[in-house]
Amino acid sequence: MNITKAVFPSAGLGTRFLPATKAVPKEMLPLVDKPIIQYCVEEARASGIDEMIFVTSRCKRAIEDHFDTSVELESLLEEKGKRETLKMLHTISEGIQVVYTRQKKALGLGHAVLCAKRLVAGEPFAVLLPDDIMDAEVPVTEQMMRVFRRHSASVIAVQRVPRSQTHMYGIIKGRKIGPGLYKVDDLVEKPRENPPSNLAIIGRYILVPEIFDALERTRHGSGGEIQLTDGIRRLLETQDVLAFEFEGERFDAGDRLGFLKANIHMGLKRPETKKELKKFIKSIV
Ligand code: G1P
Repeated sequence: MNITKAVFPSAGLGTRFLPATKAVPKEMLPLVDKPIIQYCVEEARASGIDEMIFVTSRCKRAIEDHFDTSVELESLLEEKGKRETLKMLHTISEGIQVVYTRQKKALGLGHAVLCAKRLVAGEPFAVLLPDDIMDAEVPVTEQMMRVFRRHSASVIAVQRVPRSQTHMYGIIKGRKIGPGLYKVDDLVEKPRENPPSNLAIIGRYILVPEIFDALERTRHGSGGEIQLTDGIRRLLETQDVLAFEFEGERFDAGDRLGFLKANIHMGLKRPETKKELKKFIKSIV
């Protein structure tokens, strides 16, 4: 079955990034010159998804404006003959449909995904957490969609992390069934002790619509929130769930250090900044 919809939970307050996020949504912080959220939308689009569902909250208008047309800006650029810039602006929302729904209360990631239930309308769908920025030859969402098509089961992206960091992630317990592929036996959100493995959940998921029933039956968990990890645990009672070690690099752009690393990484990839940035880094280390 084809996956055409992606959900972007974007309602978080971004407290890890204050004061930058006091008036600007964290999803709009730039990596080089593109907001974080645009990288994720581009990943989904490159994977063949064309309906982007944003779950937002108060103070997130900038996200809506970013994927909308700016008439004043466009006529100004037109007047000034800045054709290239105008073309670049058009590509932001080219070929995609963008819809928004609001999470009225900060009740957690599982609850945010549940807010998209009616928009997803009974189809399998992708979830991309904008904090996680991926750089991969084949877009990570596309890699996961291939696994979904082959096995017809929900797929969670995972990556090995040092044991000292397992308390920061959802952690899976799984049995290896193929290269980089695991059948999930259990999963636990941010275990304080005895993590079942060091395979950490990274913010990319392909989920079947049955996840919504599972989330509706999920109680408040870690941090007093309705966790997506706990919802998937419920889903496991009736369905197989797979975990997939994707190929590519991941940056936690929701964390100060991860954000700086992501910026440097992207700056070193961009032809117009690459050379000078490399020279600068060499000169200061
Ligand atoms: C969320 C998920 C967690 C996952 C992480 C990946 O946590 O709840 O299972 O490991 O994203 O980035 P958050 O970082 O939003 O607290």
